[in-house]
Amino acid sequence: MLPDRLALALIGCGGMGRRHLRGLACLAASSFSNVDLVTVCDVNRDNASLAAIEAADLLGRRPRIYADVEAMVRELGADLQAASVTTDAASHHTVALACLDLGLHLLCEKPLALTVRGCRLIMDAAKRTGKIVSVAENYRHDPINRLARALIDDGAIGTPRLMIETNIGGKNAIAITPWRHMKHAGTIVVDAGIHYADILRYYLGEVRAIYGEVRLHEKIRYNTGSAGPGGFYARWSADFPAQIEATGEDALYALLSFGNGAVGHWIDDHAGHGQPARARQVFGSEGSLDCPGDRNGRPIALHLDDGLVISQGILDHAPHYRLDPLAAELFGGERVWSYQLEFNDIDARLLALEYHELGACVAAGAQPEVTAEEGLADLALTYAPFESHRLGRAVSLAEVANGDVDAYQREIDVQLGLAAGDMTTR
Ligand SMILES: NC(=O)c1ccc[n+]([C@@H]2O[C@H](COP(=O)([O-])OP(=O)(O)OC[C@H]3O[C@@H](n4cnc5c(N)ncnc54)[C@H](O)[C@@H]3O)[C@@H](O)[C@H]2O)c1
Repeated sequence: MLPDRLALALIGCGGMGRRHLRGLACLAASSFSNVDLVTVCDVNRDNASLAAIEAADLLGRRPRIYADVEAMVRELGADLQAASVTTDAASHHTVALACLDLGLHLLCEKPLALTVRGCRLIMDAAKRTGKIVSVAENYRHDPINRLARALIDDGAIGTPRLMIETNIGGKNAIAITPWRHMKHAGTIVVDAGIHYADILRYYLGEVRAIYGEVRLHEKIRYNTGSAGPGGFYARWSADFPAQIEATGEDALYALLSFGNGAVGHWIDDHAGHGQPARARQVFGSEGSLDCPGDRNGRPIALHLDDGLVISQGILDHAPHYRLDPLAAELFGGERVWSYQLEFNDIDARLLALEYHELGACVAAGAQPEVTAEEGLADLALTYAPFESHRLGRAVSLAEVANGDVDAYQREIDVQLGLAAGDMTTR
């Protein structure tokens, strides 16, 4: 008989692992609780112990602690059905492949792996083992992004013509952790940029071709002692070096051609000085959307030729918009058009949705919304500007996704043991 509750291991107890604990607690407190945290695992025992203490506090039950995935699965056996991978990006493929081969379903933080080759290995392993892989793309679960997508699908702005996604700021500060500035560990443009790749694809569908340029503007990054998103990194940031030498790009500038004929203009610049900039706009044949970004609950502005709709009236333009029952419970209704919550409360709610979906998919034998294939496409779109820059020409998403174009990523694959020769041994 299929279990109605999913026994889960959390692998990776750094900043995001701690945030996932809040997501699990949020789900546990809801009417749709379907996941039990059984154990935490981290190669850094101090981090695992801290997570276990926090879990006991948040969930009322102290999970077991492991430092090694194989030992954990061997000991817990059938008491464990799934794992959540919240390790740093360069280790995702190693951890995910081990979990799948040991019989666990997966929720894996983005990026699914650090390179397209890594993603492909995970995708193949999911098929081979018949296990579910869900990629944790939390931004698209934000009710405001659900509403934006419904407005587009319901024709509120007519035929979409142009999407602008802009994110500029960051100066020369270390962005969250030092590894986010290292080419072989997952540069900030890949680590953060992939969220926007996912949003671009979620809003307007598949991208056909991309022309892009990337830059490494700030070669030295400084420790500003930032506690990171939600304040969860304060424990570690004091021990980061005062400055680091960056090896990975910190800015991406790209022009996209969507399959539906629309054009995308995408800037993800984490080295911006002066006035920071954020924009997410969609222009269509009958109007435009000005979207507030992610995890802030602010309303979307719908601009029509005869006026501006920025209130509840926007719902009249999205008749098919409905949140899932858990999202409706957590955000205050099934047709939410704005909400007011603190960042950490929003974050936990979005993570709760991801965990609930995994539990429901395992119980029903269904596939999640963001499968390994979707995660791979998101990563291919993120690397497309890098590959385009390297080749000096536009690239198709297909040739990046299928690995025909990979000159930029090859060095990372070699470093991670994923290059062509290495892969035959897997
Ligand atoms: N969706 C979001 O909003 C969001 C935000 C932040 C981070 N993330 C993602 O979460 C992941 C983790 O990021 P982070 O900021 O928490 O990193 P981090 O460096 O703070 O933590 C990573 C943890 O993983 C552990 N680890 C590394 N290799 C391991 C292995 N093989 N087995 C077990 N543990 C291992 C490390 O010891 C560390 O405790 C990344 O993929 C990142 O992109 C997502």
